[in-house]
Amino acid sequence: MNFFCAALFAITLPEAPGKATTEKLCSACHGVNTFVNRRETKEAWTELVEDMLRRGLEGDDAEISEITNYLATNLSKDAPSPRVNVNQTNARDLATGLGITENKARLIVKHRETNGNFKTIDDLLKVPGINMRAVESKRAQIDF
Ligand code: HEC
Repeated sequence: MNFFCAALFAITLPEAPGKATTEKLCSACHGVNTFVNRRETKEAWTELVEDMLRRGLEGDDAEISEITNYLATNLSKDAPSPRVNVNQTNARDLATGLGITENKARLIVKHRETNGNFKTIDDLLKVPGINMRAVESKRAQIDF
């Protein structure tokens, strides 16, 4: 199962204009696997990039708008997303599939090891530190 999931989650960004800049500037602090399978609206990507700027993302105005357009176009809500089984997927692929950090994904793995398998989204939201918005936005892709 894990092998199958790993094969599903190609850890690369789609080939399109803006990829190189996105890869360069967005992997300064964490891998692109943090967001490669995330799907958001343009508004949500704009907000997320602003959040990253507050966290220390560096780039000039042209680069930031290039990145935002790249994300909004290629990782848009309408792009297909992979399924994520929260009971069987390892931390790295959970991070990729759910668009959360690996630290948070490890909390999910730890929680299921301690408390048994997740059965509902509400179980998942009991994991301390899990970003409600991220999980909500993935609800339709999550398998148990
Ligand atoms: C200066 C460092 C830095 C850069 C550059 C950066 N990030 Fe982040 N990013 C962070 C930190 C810090 C976190 C939060 C880690 C945590 O919560 O454990 C984060 C978290 C995230 C998350 C997960 C949010 C969540 O709610 O779990 C996504 C998605 C993300 N970054 C996308 C991006 C994108 C896209 C770019 C490029 C536009 C980017 N990051 C550039 C520091 C950075």
